[in-house]
Amino acid sequence: MLRGVGALSIPSLLGAVGKTAAASNSVPDEPNVVPQVAQISQSSPELEKWVEEVPRPGVMEPQGTKEGQPYYEVEIQEVEQDIHRDLPPTTVWGYDGQYPGPTIEATRGEPIYIRWQNKLPDEHLLPVDTTIHDENVPYDTTSSRVVTHLHGGNVEHESDGKPLAWFTRDFEETGPKFTKKDYYYVNDQPASTLWYHDHSLGITRLNVYAGLAGFYLLRDESEPELDLPGGEYEIPLVLQDRTFNDDGSLFYPTGLSEDDRAESRPKPSIVPQFYGDTSVVNGKAWPQLTVEPRKYRFRLLNGANSRFYNLKLLEYDESAGTTGEEGPSFTLIGNDGGFLSEPVQINERLQLGSSKRADVVVDFSDYAGQTLLLHNNAPALFRGSVDDDVEETKPLPEVMVINIEGTEPVEDPSQVPSRLGRVPEIPVDSADHNRYVTLVTQTDEYDRPVHLLGTEENITGNHLYDPVTETPTLDTTEIWSIANITGMSHPIHLHLVHFQVLGHQSFSDFNPDADTIDPESLDPPRTNEQGWNDTVTVDPGEVAHIIVHFGEYDGLFNDQTGHYMWHCHMLEHEDHDMMRPMEVLPDDSGNNEEKCEWPVDDENRDSGGPIFE
Ligand code: C2O
Ligand code: CU
Repeated sequence: MLRGVGALSIPSLLGAVGKTAAASNSVPDEPNVVPQVAQISQSSPELEKWVEEVPRPGVMEPQGTKEGQPYYEVEIQEVEQDIHRDLPPTTVWGYDGQYPGPTIEATRGEPIYIRWQNKLPDEHLLPVDTTIHDENVPYDTTSSRVVTHLHGGNVEHESDGKPLAWFTRDFEETGPKFTKKDYYYVNDQPASTLWYHDHSLGITRLNVYAGLAGFYLLRDESEPELDLPGGEYEIPLVLQDRTFNDDGSLFYPTGLSEDDRAESRPKPSIVPQFYGDTSVVNGKAWPQLTVEPRKYRFRLLNGANSRFYNLKLLEYDESAGTTGEEGPSFTLIGNDGGFLSEPVQINERLQLGSSKRADVVVDFSDYAGQTLLLHNNAPALFRGSVDDDVEETKPLPEVMVINIEGTEPVEDPSQVPSRLGRVPEIPVDSADHNRYVTLVTQTDEYDRPVHLLGTEENITGNHLYDPVTETPTLDTTEIWSIANITGMSHPIHLHLVHFQVLGHQSFSDFNPDADTIDPESLDPPRTNEQGWNDTVTVDPGEVAHIIVHFGEYDGLFNDQTGHYMWHCHMLEHEDHDMMRPMEVLPDDSGNNEEKCEWPVDDENRDSGGPIFE
């Protein structure tokens, strides 16, 4: 029932590792790589579908100016919100008290300042596993820790909002990488759909699930000349999955419920993946969207913890609950890092791993009076090697219904121009360095699956606190070959930069010792991987090759050095422990020696002593 790579068995993948990597690496005992999904006993109460309109997030207003630039203060608060008509109000966490947070509208070339303020109560809303990085994280702080990351932001490292820059209520306690209260966003990168979300070490999955995410739309002054659908015809949509308790509160598992090793595991325990049973769009469960029969621009964001979406619009009979013919296609005009050079029509499905954005135009002019379903056919454990157990694949086929008003098309001056943005190709032969990194599964000290990121020297994986191994130099170009030797797809995200996807190949065809990558020999980038990406989905048993320039490139992006992160964006993986530091070195160093004070030194690691102050 699972198609494609699902047929590849784990032993054959591991065999492939052994064969290819034998020259320079030895493969350890086969780890327990059987993917597990949280077996969730809770199902959400029955909620009538498609009864409420999808909300549009408000736009954030600046409080004043700082250094002549707009200055925002955003309070992170616990509030009650109506997620569905048939549910009691749900306690959520929201930026400015809203879930999702209000949209930040920024303009290219106009920097802004934001002070993110923690006003959360003492208790976390969700079950916290205090064993995650427990040597390095204080779990007894007066309030929950937060830190806000601008995802896709080409920003200074002090304002990146990285996991160790957390802070508690009113900045009472701060993490080892906290350096400033007022974040500075330089907005010197192509116009794009960015988003902001929480990134606190060890609890990112919980803080985002509680509601801490919002859009950051960076616009270019020349954008209106493109005549794309705008104003009320441009709608940001964040797709998420949630499960609710009967009292309306958010459900999040405390562990694997059918876990025969539960006795020896922490309580609560992190789960390897989490999939909710209810579609939530812009903070509304099972919503409908009413549109006019004309073109719309949607800023789609996968804001789910673990779930992949593989989307298509289908005709829908609402009373029978059945789908019919294909609806209008998505015309992709931009992705993570900005406009494509030209629009691409998505004829298959639009795939979005967690954190991916798709800037699309949909033309409803032929659908007046009809109903469409935003349909998802991605199983949970995307391309995972689970048994043919329908329950375990936990699909979420129905995302949102779209009702097209009227009886005939309305006047629509908008268009999709044939030329959009500037995406100068980064030539493969300009690469200064080839980097080979791996995605692996191991088991932790509680015999739970733990996902890790490895290197050519240590393909079996490094932990977060191991010394920095990714140290690109400013103004150089690197090819990253990302090999997935786990049993499922992972969306891999690099902070700071946007890269171009060169292509994919099967792991068994990959030769890590080759001097160059021949893009001709690869499966070409998928339709939605054109242009500038900050996240790439790597399927099991394959190697994805990306090319990335660190620093300004042909007049696009800007130079930054310092300490950033790269990680899997399935939030359960990111927390445990599929995240690594990345240090961009100033170009005068040139020697790729580690420069940053990554909060680890051998002394501390050996003694297991705390590294925060
Ligand atoms: Cu969207 Cu490191 O995060
Ligand atoms: Cu992952």
